[in-house]
Amino acid sequence: MQAVGVIGAGQMGAGIAQVSAGAGFRVLLADTDLARAEKGKAGIAKQLDRQVAKEKMTRADADALLGRIEPVGDVSGMGDCDLVIEAATEREAIKRAIFESVGKVLRGDAVLASNTSSIPITRLAQASPDPARFVGVHFFNPVPVMGLIELIRGLATSDETVATVEAYAQALGKRVVRANDAPGFIVNRVLMPMLNEACFALGEGVATIPDIDAACQLGLNHPMGPLTLADFIGLDTCLEITRVLFEGTGDPKFRPAPLLVKYVEAGWYGRKTGRGFYDYSGDEPVPTR
Ligand code: CAA
Repeated sequence: MQAVGVIGAGQMGAGIAQVSAGAGFRVLLADTDLARAEKGKAGIAKQLDRQVAKEKMTRADADALLGRIEPVGDVSGMGDCDLVIEAATEREAIKRAIFESVGKVLRGDAVLASNTSSIPITRLAQASPDPARFVGVHFFNPVPVMGLIELIRGLATSDETVATVEAYAQALGKRVVRANDAPGFIVNRVLMPMLNEACFALGEGVATIPDIDAACQLGLNHPMGPLTLADFIGLDTCLEITRVLFEGTGDPKFRPAPLLVKYVEAGWYGRKTGRGFYDYSGDEPVPTR
C-alpha cells in the first residue's frame, strides 16, 4: 500500500494523517475546503514541533513526515489511494454524501473505511460503492498516543478488506481488535456507561467533580477521571454514543444521565467549547461545581 486518503482534517482525521505519514504512506488530507485541510496539517506540524523540541524526533524526520501529507480541498484526487479513511463529523448524512463523492473516483480494488464511533457499519456500507470493500476502523484520541484500532466488519465486508486494514494497522504499530457491528463496538460499549454513570453520580450529589475524577484516577489508576475524559471526548459525542447504545440495545441501563443531557442542551460540550464539567478559559481547568 502506498497512498492513504483521509477525509476530515479535524482532531481525529489529522491524527490519522499524522500516524499514516509517520508509517511512510503518502497521505491526501481532505476537508470541505483547502483552508480547513491546511489547518489540519498546520496542527500536525505544531504537534511535531513539540516532539522535535523534546528530542523525541529529529527535525529531518518531522519535515519528511510533513512532506508526505498533501492537503486537498476535495476528494477528486483520491483515485490512486489504496485506502481511504473517512473521519468526518459523526453525522450519517454527511458520511453518506462523502461516500457517494469519493465512490466516483475510488479505484476498483481500493478499500473505503469509516472511523465512525457509533453508526452501524452494515448500514453505512449501503452508501459505499462496494460493501465488500467497506469496513469500520475506529481510532482513539489522541491518535498518535493511543495504541488501538477497533476493526469492525459489516455483513458484506470481505476477508481481503479485513487483511488490507490489518496490514495497514501493523504498519502503524497499532494493535487491532475485531469487534462485531454491535452498538458502541467494544470500547464505547464499556466506556460510555462509566462516563454516563459519573454524570448520574454528580447529578445525584454523590460527590463533587474533582472528587469523582480523583477517585477514578487514583483509585482505578486511570490516566484521567471520567468527567475530565468526557470533557476531552466532547459531551455531545458522549451523549450521541450513549443514545446509540440505548436505542440500539433497547436496554434501559444505557439511558443517558439527565445532567449530561442538560449540559449538552446548554452548549457545554467540554474542551472544544471552553466549558463542560470544567471551565477551560484560564491556564488550568477549573471545576464548575
Ligand atoms: N496528540 C499527540 N500527542 C499527544 C497529544 C495529542 N493530542 N496529547 C498528548 N500527547 C503525547 C504527549 O506529547 C506526550 O508524549 P511523550 O510521552 O512522547 O512526551 C504523551 O502524549 C503524554 O502527554 P502529556 O504528558 O502531555 O499528558 P498526560 O501524560 O496527561 O497524557 C493523555 C495525556 C495521553 C491524553 C492521557 O491523559 C490519556 O491517555 N488519557 C485518556 C485518553 C483516552 O481515554 N482516550 C480515548 C477516548 S475514547 C475515544 O477516543 C473513542 C471514542 O469513540 C469516543
